[in-house]
Amino acid sequence: MMTPQQRSAHCGSILNFNADPGQQDDPRAYDFWERGALIVAGGRIESVGPADAVLPLADGNMAVIDHGTRLIMPGFIDTHIHYPQTDVIASGGHNLLEWLERYTFPAEERFADADHARAVAEFFLDELLRNGTTTAQVLGTVHRQSVEVLFQAAAARGLRMIAGKTLMDRNCPEPLRDSPEQGERDMRELIEVWHGRDRLHYAITPRFAATSSVAQLQGAGRLAREYPDVYIHSHLAENRDEVAWIRQLFPDSRSYLDVYDRFGLLRDRATYAHCIYLDAVDRARMAARGAGAAFAPTANLYLGSGLFDIAASDAAGMRFALATDVGGGSSFSMLRTMAEAYKVAQLQGQQLSPLRAFYLATLAGARMLGLAERIGRFAPGSEADFIVLDPEATPLLARRMAQSRTLTERLLVMMTLADDRAVAATYILGTLQERS
Ligand code: GUN
Ligand code: FE
Repeated sequence: MMTPQQRSAHCGSILNFNADPGQQDDPRAYDFWERGALIVAGGRIESVGPADAVLPLADGNMAVIDHGTRLIMPGFIDTHIHYPQTDVIASGGHNLLEWLERYTFPAEERFADADHARAVAEFFLDELLRNGTTTAQVLGTVHRQSVEVLFQAAAARGLRMIAGKTLMDRNCPEPLRDSPEQGERDMRELIEVWHGRDRLHYAITPRFAATSSVAQLQGAGRLAREYPDVYIHSHLAENRDEVAWIRQLFPDSRSYLDVYDRFGLLRDRATYAHCIYLDAVDRARMAARGAGAAFAPTANLYLGSGLFDIAASDAAGMRFALATDVGGGSSFSMLRTMAEAYKVAQLQGQQLSPLRAFYLATLAGARMLGLAERIGRFAPGSEADFIVLDPEATPLLARRMAQSRTLTERLLVMMTLADDRAVAATYILGTLQERS
């Protein structure tokens, strides 16, 4: 890691968001400098702006790295991903509940073996970084050690990560089952040891309402009140059969969302993946409680779940940000995820502007996770987790890019055609990450 004395400068095109550009691409919401510069000192952003204003602040013996016409931007933030499902990616032909039984639960059972968990955690973090994802909110398995090894691996790399062990005490295979008491013991220990250590945060993670008993959900709610700065992370209203099942399991709740709300699991720092089958009352309640939705278009399409409604979420003032949801999701790449989000909007007669897609993959996630003062944006004092995208990474990208004029056009070409091949470099706290 960098010492506080170390300073370096990076030149290139720079894209940075300060707020949500919304449907109208509000010009005050973002900065774009065709020729920009970033000064990094001690792992933090010292200054950012047009190169001719920033470079004079560089001193003579400072390393200046010129990225040419490449695009420098904050690292991607993936708000919902399952690291134990790295080996489940591209297991298809089924919808959610069958897919869980057939592929996912068996893969997660293997995490009883700590060596397996450690090997997958290292591969997973390599894959995030090669895709330009510098922070993620991650589900482990029911095994406490699945989260311990992930935190250890993330800490060794200096990464800002959120993770939690899944709580599951019913409706799952016996080897993946904990109990309300065991789950709570595991969570307390993980929170005490890891939450707030280095750049790590804990998330209370009931897998979804179908796999936790009332006693377990009550316990999760109690812990969430006891630790208000700990995250809450789960799934909500992803698939029609799932929603019908929840209605059977919790007949007294007005909706699936209401189940979580009744147990005190709807608050600031709570993220619910999918949020497809919500009504206007649910969306208003999400907004009022400050909870956020992880919009995972590749997973929603791959598992045939449905379409996330951006316009309705905006109308309700609900927070949302992008997520890959690997292994239901079919790519680690937030660029691929933006491309699919754009198509999900199209299928509903809505528009997702390229600028907003880039916002949803960066600052929107940081804001939803309460981390916008630290990551997701270039501002003096923020942590220097950033990436460099090559607009000419493939022959087709280069060809199509050469015919694009405006920033909006260029970003649309990038998100439609690019993937990890376009991620030329990933920096964590100002330090270049070697590619695996
Ligand atoms: N709902 C409950 N568990 C899961 C999971 O592992 N993946 C997805 N996509 N949805 C879920
Ligand atoms: Fe998921």
